[in-house]
This record gives sequence, C-alpha cells and structure tokens, in this order.
Amino acid sequence: MEAEHIGLATMASLLRLVGLAASVAVSSALTIAEINGNKFLSPYSGQTVSNVTGVVTAKGPDGIWIRSTKPDRDARTSESIYVFGAKFASTNNLTVGDAISIGGKVSEYRSSKAYVYLTELASPTLEEKLSSGNTVKALVIGKDTSDPPTQQFSSLDGGFVFGVPNNVSLISVANPVLEPKEYGMDFWESLSGELVTVRKPTAVNKPNNYGDTWVIGDWKVTGRNGRDGLTQTEKDANPETIIIGSPLDGTSNPSTTKLGDDLEEITGIVTQAFGFYRILPTTAIKVKKSQKPALPSATKLKSDGKCNGITFGAYNVENLSPNSSHLGAIASHIVNYLKSPDLVFLQEVQDDNGPTNDAIVSANLTLSTLAAAIANSGGPQYAFTDVDPVDDQDGGAPGGNIRTAYFYKPSLIRLYKPNPGGSLDANEVLAGPTLKYNPGLIDPTNEAWTASRKPLVAQWEALGKKGKSEGKFFTVNVHFGSKGGSSSIQGDARPPVNGGVEDRQAQADLTANFVKSIFAKDKNARVITAGDFNEFISVAPLKSYVQTSGLNDLDAVANIKPVERYTYLFDMQAQQLDHMFISNSLKKHAQYEHIHINTWVDKAAQISDHDPSVAKLDVCS
Ligand SMILES: *[C@@H]1O[C@H](CO)[C@@H](O)[C@H](O)[C@H]1NC(C)=O
Ligand SMILES: *[C@@H]1O[C@H](CO)[C@@H](O)[C@H](O)[C@H]1NC(C)=O
Ligand SMILES: *[C@@H]1O[C@H](CO)[C@@H](O)[C@H](O)[C@H]1NC(C)=O
Ligand SMILES: *[C@@H]1O[C@H](CO)[C@@H](O)[C@H](O)[C@H]1NC(C)=O
Ligand SMILES: *[C@@H]1O[C@H](CO)[C@@H](O)[C@H](O)[C@H]1NC(C)=O
Repeated sequence: MEAEHIGLATMASLLRLVGLAASVAVSSALTIAEINGNKFLSPYSGQTVSNVTGVVTAKGPDGIWIRSTKPDRDARTSESIYVFGAKFASTNNLTVGDAISIGGKVSEYRSSKAYVYLTELASPTLEEKLSSGNTVKALVIGKDTSDPPTQQFSSLDGGFVFGVPNNVSLISVANPVLEPKEYGMDFWESLSGELVTVRKPTAVNKPNNYGDTWVIGDWKVTGRNGRDGLTQTEKDANPETIIIGSPLDGTSNPSTTKLGDDLEEITGIVTQAFGFYRILPTTAIKVKKSQKPALPSATKLKSDGKCNGITFGAYNVENLSPNSSHLGAIASHIVNYLKSPDLVFLQEVQDDNGPTNDAIVSANLTLSTLAAAIANSGGPQYAFTDVDPVDDQDGGAPGGNIRTAYFYKPSLIRLYKPNPGGSLDANEVLAGPTLKYNPGLIDPTNEAWTASRKPLVAQWEALGKKGKSEGKFFTVNVHFGSKGGSSSIQGDARPPVNGGVEDRQAQADLTANFVKSIFAKDKNARVITAGDFNEFISVAPLKSYVQTSGLNDLDAVANIKPVERYTYLFDMQAQQLDHMFISNSLKKHAQYEHIHINTWVDKAAQISDHDPSVAKLDVCS
C-alpha cells in the first residue's frame, strides 16, 4: 500500500541489487536510516531485508532496539529501530552493546487506526554477532539533537492544531517528509527507536492511571507558567513535551507526581504507542524535588457586601451528589479558597440520588446537602436555584442528570421577580429587559443541546440597606458539550478531532444570540456568563461566542497573564475550559482569579478535575 511513496532514492537502491531473482525481498545491506526513511512511513514497509547492522541499545519485554553502525548525516532519518520479537534477545544471547547483523520484515504497526504507525523490524533473524561490549551512549535531547519545536505539531495542521474543520488529512496517507525543526511530531518521529536522555526533567501534568507522565527537559520551551507547567496559548499547544511511559525494567512510575515537580534525569527509548510519541525509560522516574508551595493561596477577592463589590465564584464540582465523598471538600474549597462568593455558578451537580439511574431528576437534596456543609464549614447559608432537566437527556454520567445551578447569599442578592421555567420552557428576553422565566433555560428543545446541558439564565438584583434594590444583572451558567470522541493530539488525523466541536459551535451560537437579545433591549445591560465551556478561547466556538454576544473575556479584561489562564490539565497542557465573560458595563474595576486548588495537588488529593475561579465586579455603578 505504500508503493506510491517509493521515491527515486528507493528505486535507485533497488536497481543496485545484483544477483537476485525478481522478488519482493530486498536483500541489499540497507542501513537503518534507509529503512526508516525521511518520512513517517518506511519506504520498505512490507519488505524482507537482510544484513541490517546495529548495536543493541536497550532490551524490552517484547524486543530490542538497535542503533546503526553506519549513520548518515540526515537529521530526518532515525538511526535506530525497534526489533520486534519477544524471544529474539534470549534465544540469541543478545545484550546491550552487542553489534549484530540481522534480517527481518520491515513493518508498520499501530494498535488503533487513530494512531500514527511505528516502523519496526519484525520476525528478526540473527545473521551474525559482530562484536560485543560496544559503548552505548544516549543522545541528550537538545544537545546531541536539535531542540524540540515549541509550537506546531504537524505540517498537516494548517498552522493550528485546534483548527476547524478537523481530520482533513491523515499522516498515514499524506506521509509528509519530516521537518524535525518545525513540527513536534516530526521531531519525535525522527528519533523513533533512539536511546535518549532528558536532562533536568520537569513534570507538566500528573501521571495518568498507568503512571505515564508528560515532561519537558532542559531545552527551550514556550508557555511556561508560574508552576513550571506549560500552558496552552493561542497557536502554541506544546509539542516540546514527551510522555514517559512504562519502564523497560518492569518497575512502575510513581502515581503521586505533581505538576511542576523536578525529576531525576531520564534515559530511555523513543517510541510511538497508544497515540503518542513516548520515551520508555530504562527504569522508573523519580521525583527529585516536589513543587512548592503544596497548595495555592486563597483568593484575594472578597465581597464588599454591597453592589459595587460583588464576588462571583464558578466551580465544576465533578458529579456532585448528596452521597459524594468529595462533598465536604467542595464545601471547604468554597468557604476557605473562594471565600464564600456572593453568587456561585456550579456545574456538574447531580440529582438527589446521584448515579442511581431512575426517574429522579430533582437536585434539591444535593444542593441543600452542599449548602448545609458550607454553613457547617463556617460559610454563609446559601440559597440555591436550578431547573431540573428531562431525565437522561443531558449527557454526563448515566443516571446523574447533571445540571448547572446557582448558590447565592439571599441577604445580598435575590432573583428579580422569580418565575422559574420548566425543563422544556424556552426563556425569552422581555421588555425591561427582563426574563420570561427566572431562572429558565435557553431553547432547551433545540437539537444543539442533544446529550448536553441547557444554559441556565437568571436575572438578579443586588440588595442595599433595608433590602433596597441597587443593581440588576443577568447571568448565564453554562456547561457545553464534552470533548468526548477527540483523537490524540499526536494521532493520525490532522488537525486532530476536537470531539463535539460542531455541537459546541451550535451551543455557543444559541447562547451568544440570547445574550445579544438582552443587549438589543438595553445595550448597557449587565451580563455575566460563566461555567465550563469545554473549549479554549482561541478555538472557533468561543471566538464567535465573543464576537456574536458582544461580551468580553474576563481573563483579558482582568489582565491575567496568558500563561496563567488555566483551570484544567490534559495531556501536556495546562489549559482553560472554564471561562467567565462580562458585558462592557461590568469591565470597570473587574477582577478575576483562577484558584489552582485541584491542578496543583497530586491525583489522590484532587477534589474535582477543574479548578474554580472567582471574580469581583461592580454591578451598580
Ligand atoms: C553485509 O554488509 C557488509 C558490509 O556492508 C558486506 O561486506 C557483506 O557482504 C554483506 N553481506 C551480505 C550477506 O549481504
Ligand atoms: C553470551 O554473550 C556473552 C557476551 O555478550 C558471552 O560472554 C557469553 O559467553 C554468551 N553466552 C552464551 C551461552 O553464548
Ligand atoms: C447514600 O448513602 C446512604 C448511607 O450511606 C444510603 O443509605 C443511601 O441509600 C445512599 N443514597 C444513595 C442515593 O445512594
Ligand atoms: C425543590 O425545591 C423547589 C424550590 O424550593 C421546589 O419548588 C420543588 O418542589 C422541590 N422539588 C422537590 C422534588 O422536592
Ligand atoms: C478521520 O477521517 C478518516 C477518513 O478520512 C476516518 O477513516 C477516520 O476514522 C477519522 N479519524 C477519526 C479519529 O475520527
């Protein structure tokens, strides 16, 4: 199938063959660099080769890696290759430092069609052991190699890895010539099979469930945040990172590594598996110095108790139900880290019996249990409001009926002329402006919301002395559709599939147009939209959300440094899925903070997968 990719160089080397009958087998002495070629796929894929010489650099449970004894000077062609065969090393008494000559079949392997192929030599046969005890030195990344590129992943991404549309080409089909100085995937592919060293590694995420840990080394990086992680910023999605996979000696990587921890030097083999380029370390990674301080400070934004200094919290509380073991910790976060904001936008509140999959949709017990826990932790007695969803229609964990909800301090804020809408009632902006339903959902029967949460709109008034109304404002609490179904950022599809992006675009359009209809009645209306948008600010749905709605990204208004804009960790990224947007009328003196209470701690100590945020706004001047 790769026949169309066999270029002139390959034809020339085929013509050099002498004394062989016509055969698919290539029996000349190909170098490892020639086998790898300067693209993602080997020009010899599917062919049998012999007399391939290399020195054994490492042994794994299912094969060995060899490095060429005849290197070329082309940085695009890896000098090493994986020799796949579980018994090959033991049968032939091979050890690191042995120079060998072998034959085998050049193969491209991947365990899923969503992944990029790994070039390997399968069904190996030992032709000759040439010598042993040869010195094996790892290539130091950034010293013996160029620095990994810091912004782009692939030439096929059209300049933006989160560009829309997704999956317009496949690496396995386009098979571009590698440009290791430009594109991160090309860089790691050009080192496929190599023994490398990462000096002064830093963890840029917590390990996954297998202990695999994303790191950077002492090379140049961009997007470094104050915690030493790498934040995804516009046009920079951190290809200079690499995930450290399962150790070759059978040990296990630690599970307690945290964002920004310093690690001991790592040496291992570059390979491609489970959708990522990865280094298989010779032994388990070790934390050298844990990042400090262990916990972030509490927010500095405290309520002034009056309309010109109202605080707004936002928190995705990750499948909260009355029985959740993390409910007490969420209450403590709201009181001790968010300093009990006057109004809280909550997402992922489950119904009263959580994951039990029955007809119950009310979350009154969930919300009152949280309210009681907050009061018990020394916080205020919050009131709350939400609109029950239709059973099993809003996505999330089966049976949970997750929804957004508001907590508010009734002494300071109340719903303006409350008139709660039902699950199927579409809210409207009426003259005033005011709402048909307060609170109520945006166009809940629109198919854009299939298996997703419908935004909860409310209108409020801040109360002054003696309960006098001193400022009205609107809020929209969102939890857009998830990124489920996304493909790996280093996967075959380019740009990678951003799961659900079409849904989020439609959801963003509906929400933005609702907000626009408020401004149509009052261009100075005060509007705050917040929650888990499940999308990045530079990606199409939120680009047009800002444009259509006329709202402002509060991170930008509050001048938060771009690298400190994160609420979530995913793969190699510190990234922002949770946002707050405010109307022009609220920009003056607006303040905002992300409280990294969950991204900074280790996995066991994490209470939600999202960080909460707090804003302070003047809703009456
Ligand atoms: C293997 O390669 C070496 C050096 O390139 C050459 O001398 C030898 O003849 C080759 N052997 C075979 C069987 O092709
Ligand atoms: C295995 O190889 C080592 C050198 O790598 C050699 O010292 C030893 O004698 C070999 N053992 C056998 C059984 O061939
Ligand atoms: C919650 O836990 C209590 C006691 O542990 C149990 O009796 C109750 O059935 C649980 N409720 C749900 C909805 O799981
Ligand atoms: C939940 O609380 C609201 C407001 O207090 C009330 O109208 C509603 O009936 C309650 N639902 C259930 C199932 O108790
Ligand atoms: C990308 O598109 C191809 C068709 O060109 C399809 O076969 C493949 O499944 C898609 N990949 C993903 C991850 O959706």
